[in-house]
Amino acid sequence: MRQNIIQLALCGLAALSTAAPANRRSTNNNVSDEFQSIDGFPAPNPQQLLETERRAHGTLSNSTPPDSVDPDTIISLQVIAAEEQFEAAFFQQLLANVTNNEAGYEIVGGNARTMGIDALTAIVAQEELHALNAINALRHFNQTPVAPCLYNFPVSTLDEAIALAQTFTSVVLGTLQNVVLNMGSHGDAGLTQGVASVIGQEGEQQGFFRLLRHNIPSELPFLTNSVRDFAFNALNQNFIVPGSCPNINQIAALKKLHVMQPLTVTQSFDPKKSVNETVQLSFSLPNGANPQDYEVAYINQQNIPFVLPYTVLHQDGQTLSVTAPFPFGEHLLNGLTILAIVPTSAVGGFKSNQDVADATLAGPGLVVVN
Ligand SMILES: *[C@@H]1O[C@H](CO)[C@@H](O)[C@H](O)[C@H]1NC(C)=O
Ligand SMILES: *[C@@H]1O[C@H](CO)[C@@H](O)[C@H](O)[C@H]1NC(C)=O
Ligand SMILES: *[C@@H]1O[C@H](CO)[C@@H](O)[C@H](O)[C@H]1NC(C)=O
Repeated sequence: MRQNIIQLALCGLAALSTAAPANRRSTNNNVSDEFQSIDGFPAPNPQQLLETERRAHGTLSNSTPPDSVDPDTIISLQVIAAEEQFEAAFFQQLLANVTNNEAGYEIVGGNARTMGIDALTAIVAQEELHALNAINALRHFNQTPVAPCLYNFPVSTLDEAIALAQTFTSVVLGTLQNVVLNMGSHGDAGLTQGVASVIGQEGEQQGFFRLLRHNIPSELPFLTNSVRDFAFNALNQNFIVPGSCPNINQIAALKKLHVMQPLTVTQSFDPKKSVNETVQLSFSLPNGANPQDYEVAYINQQNIPFVLPYTVLHQDGQTLSVTAPFPFGEHLLNGLTILAIVPTSAVGGFKSNQDVADATLAGPGLVVVN
């Protein structure tokens, strides 16, 4: 039995590594197309919900949320709804690509292909239920849930798609920690049990993604923390098609999150390839600001954030290209590191990752090592 499972996994790995890169081509990012084949999501009827639950291998909780919650918890539920709808759309498109043998998405080997399709089928339905759980709670608290948007996924092979899934799942795993913290500190500890169960669930997915990419399944002893502001900015900057969201601008709770400018990691760090412990970043300075007004903040594992200065490589108007230290050896920066450009004037006061997010000019830059 054990032998067979290992053979299956190896089969999957071999298939991934031989997947040929395909030319990137634009897809029809129509939100109704994206969701039409998945049982009425995000508003399934009872029969459709039953089908989703069958594919997810389990049910939504049958317990009733409390009568009311703190306004801060509404922010958390809206962020979860936004993230999980995005994840459902991503894995639905990935499942379609694998099922249709799109170029770059062929899984060679019948057993590995069947296992891949079975895994993705469950993941799509499980992400839908994560989203529906938040959506139902928001309705219960008389809130309008954020509706799905159109998304752009910057990938064109199975390997790229799994790498992207690994990155955004790390951010979700970090952000749900922050949701638990916020719910607990605002008197809504009753909702944290369900959220904690999703952290474990997404951790199981992550182990699978990591194994497919030849990484050991467990990333770190203590997963990197994130906060809601980083997760929501990453979603907006990287995946949401601008102007495609039906109601995101009317969701007051989401307006409470700090708005950040994009921070592009133009050269990441790989201990097997990088000569120096550095990363290269690009971002825009506000009008009138000087490069030395800002530094880079680093968030990794459960450690207190630290800040280091960068060196300017190139300035073109307000756009800066910089090289920044990536002290991998000193801090053992495995797994997800979140980078943020913060004002030098704020640096002394960072006690938490929320402090960093609240002061961030540009971010999050996402680096995943090993
Ligand atoms: C999106 O797809 C649906 C169903 O296929 C179609 O009715 C609708 O017109 C499309 N919308 C856009 C903007 O293309
Ligand atoms: C699915 O395949 C298309 C065509 O290669 C690609 O543009 C799209 O990004 C892929 N989506 C995912 C989630 O892999
Ligand atoms: C590595 O650092 C050295 C010394 O600072 C520098 O000369 C070299 O260009 C760097 N190499 C890369 C690839 O960045």
